[in-house]
Amino acid sequence: MTIASFVQLCTLFLSFSLAAGFHQMEGEFGVVHLYPPTHSEQHEPNCTTDTAIIDKLLNGTGYNKFRIPNEQHGVDVAVEFWLQAITSIDEITNDFEMDIYINEVWLDPQLSFEHLSPCKQNLSLNHQVLDKLWTPNSCFINSKVAEIHSSPFRNVFLMLYPNGTVWVNYRVRVKGPCSMDLSNFPLDTQTCGLIYESFNYNNQEVRMRWNPSNPTPVYTLGTILLPDFDLIKISAELKVEPYPAGMWDELHVNLLFGRRWIWYFMQAYVPTYLTILISWVSFSLGSRAIPARTMLGVNALLAIIFQFGNIMRNLPRVSYIKAIDVWMLGGMSFIFLSLLELAVIGHLVKDEGNIKKKPPVMCKKRPSLAFQLADSPPSSPKGICSYEKRFMFPVQKCELAWSQRSTLWWPNFSLRNLTPNEIDRFCSIAFPACFALFNVAYYSFYLSRAAARTAEMM
Ligand SMILES: *[C@@H]1O[C@H](CO)[C@@H](O)[C@H](O)[C@H]1NC(C)=O
Ligand SMILES: *[C@@H]1O[C@H](CO)[C@@H](O)[C@H](O)[C@H]1NC(C)=O
Ligand SMILES: *[C@@H]1O[C@H](CO)[C@@H](O)[C@H](O)[C@H]1NC(C)=O
Ligand SMILES: *[C@@H]1O[C@H](CO)[C@@H](O)[C@H](O)[C@H]1NC(C)=O
Repeated sequence: MTIASFVQLCTLFLSFSLAAGFHQMEGEFGVVHLYPPTHSEQHEPNCTTDTAIIDKLLNGTGYNKFRIPNEQHGVDVAVEFWLQAITSIDEITNDFEMDIYINEVWLDPQLSFEHLSPCKQNLSLNHQVLDKLWTPNSCFINSKVAEIHSSPFRNVFLMLYPNGTVWVNYRVRVKGPCSMDLSNFPLDTQTCGLIYESFNYNNQEVRMRWNPSNPTPVYTLGTILLPDFDLIKISAELKVEPYPAGMWDELHVNLLFGRRWIWYFMQAYVPTYLTILISWVSFSLGSRAIPARTMLGVNALLAIIFQFGNIMRNLPRVSYIKAIDVWMLGGMSFIFLSLLELAVIGHLVKDEGNIKKKPPVMCKKRPSLAFQLADSPPSSPKGICSYEKRFMFPVQKCELAWSQRSTLWWPNFSLRNLTPNEIDRFCSIAFPACFALFNVAYYSFYLSRAAARTAEMM
């Protein structure tokens, strides 16, 4: 018992001493964490709050928003664009639409508040304060539509620095013009541009500049993905333009877009290849299958016309020849020529039918046979007969007839001794060869022209 009570005493003592130690430690460190002597607290009695600064700056101090800051030397406005998204490029209406942040920075000495011992190094404010300040009144002078996003409130950011520097940031949706040259369509590149300038002040009063401290004053906030274009290049330049009221500084931004032609290749070129290939099947069907060949040729022609119409529907009615026009019309003429070839074959075969009066004799035999049987109605053998008459000309005789008559018709024609089968065989080689040549010429011309134009614009 005594040992046990001694041990109890010892543990009690230990726990007391430990608790005291912890308490002591808490006293040493815990208080520091609970009441840190903060920086602001030390200065609080003497620093000025944001609202007081704004009141002092704008209420009753003689700030005039109509007075240009630094009237003798003019104001430098540094501009920067951040491209957020490019939403569309439209060939029909010849424009593009994008969301951008416009940044403008200038120095307004009237707004300096260093002497007021501000609590913060900068003031973040909104459009209500901006309405009371002088602004360069800059705008896009060539935009079709431009509006500041206003949901849920006007997307305007304003920051004031103690030395009087004003930084304004607007989030704007702007629709600007493009100069569409579709002569290389769909292997084309397009430029779209905007011009930003002060509307009211000439360059004696307001000097607009691309932000000199940033080598790329116009840049994208992330990758810009458009379904049918790639953004190749952004260029920003300053131009000085004379107006009746003086010289104005214009900030030009040009965007160079290259078309993603894969879609057009899949939707226009590949089907055209298939249609043209199918029209060549006709050459291997033989001279007897005139209706089948006619159907094939006419269907191929209709198919290519329909494709052409589908592509053209989404393009403006320009008065010059586009690359896709050359392609489609070239493909159409190949199909048209294959139909012409069919016309020649058909003529030769019909010729044969006119010379030889024997096939009708052959036909007359059948009804007699039918009458002998006296079972079937006379109309159906007659039908068979006319069908045979139309489709089953004996080729050998036809060739003979061709060689006899052609000498009478075209005595100087070098191919006059050709049979329809020979013509078909010749065409089944000549058409693909010509088409291959057309392909080589087409692609080498338009690809080199597209490369030259892109190089010129870069
Ligand atoms: C605050 O201002 C008072 C005089 O108004 C001055 O005595 C005091 O030193 C100032 N405090 C600081 C931290 O500047
Ligand atoms: C501006 O100051 C006047 C008094 O000088 C005051 O009556 C008015 O409410 C102030 N306006 C604002 C917006 O603070
Ligand atoms: C604004 O001031 C705060 C401190 O008050 C600072 O942390 C911040 O970086 C400043 N912002 C700019 C853009 O200068
Ligand atoms: C004003 O202050 C800002 C931020 O501290 C600085 O970037 C700018 O260069 C200053 N401007 C002048 C004219 O001192």
